[in-house]
Amino acid sequence: MIALIVAYAKNQVIGNKGCIPWKIKGEQKRFRELTLGNVVIMGRRSYEEIGKPLPNRTTIVVSNTKNFDAENCMTAKSLAEALKLAGDKDVYISGGGRIYAEALPLVEKMYITEIDCEIEGDTYFPTFDELLFEKEINQRHEGEIPYTYVTYTRKNKGEL
Ligand SMILES: NC(=O)c1ccc[n+]([C@@H]2O[C@H](COP(=O)([O-])OP(=O)(O)OC[C@H]3O[C@@H](n4cnc5c(N)ncnc54)[C@H](OP(=O)(O)O)[C@@H]3O)[C@@H](O)[C@H]2O)c1
Repeated sequence: MIALIVAYAKNQVIGNKGCIPWKIKGEQKRFRELTLGNVVIMGRRSYEEIGKPLPNRTTIVVSNTKNFDAENCMTAKSLAEALKLAGDKDVYISGGGRIYAEALPLVEKMYITEIDCEIEGDTYFPTFDELLFEKEINQRHEGEIPYTYVTYTRKNKGEL
């Protein structure tokens, strides 16, 4: 299964100056739960923000300029090569903007955290056709910045 996992603000912002422009305690819990034991694929800038391979997961970094080679961490030169390296394991596309845009037509599921405010940024999640997906609202979290976990499942997997 190829899935995508992202948190975006109301204005689709996902990042600013190489970082995630909000800090909300507990917001990344679902990311951890879903990706544990699986493969995450991310662009070089997103990987450099984290700075190390994620524990108890396989990390595949997409880059043409650098080679990250560590335990449970590999580098691929393209999204296609990264998917090949993942084999038949469940894959979670984890950003950033360019990888999300390229992966969107391929994903079966999108695990999205909707951050309930507009945030200034320079990196956006691409627009997509909501009609191609079934949207399920999973859990809303109240707080200073409320957020909601939602899941989009592609309606017609035969189109992939
Ligand atoms: N809110 C969220 O859920 C979330 C999740 C992840 C990231 N982010 C944010 O997103 C921002 C980073 O996103 P970004 O779009 O600037 O960078 P990115 O996608 O993380 O990384 C871009 C780099 O990845 C490589 N790359 C990406 N797509 C490629 C492709 N198709 N083929 C070959 N190489 C590819 C290239 O590396 P080389 O230059 O080395 O070739 C490219 O310069 C940060 O602000 C981060 O905090 C947010």
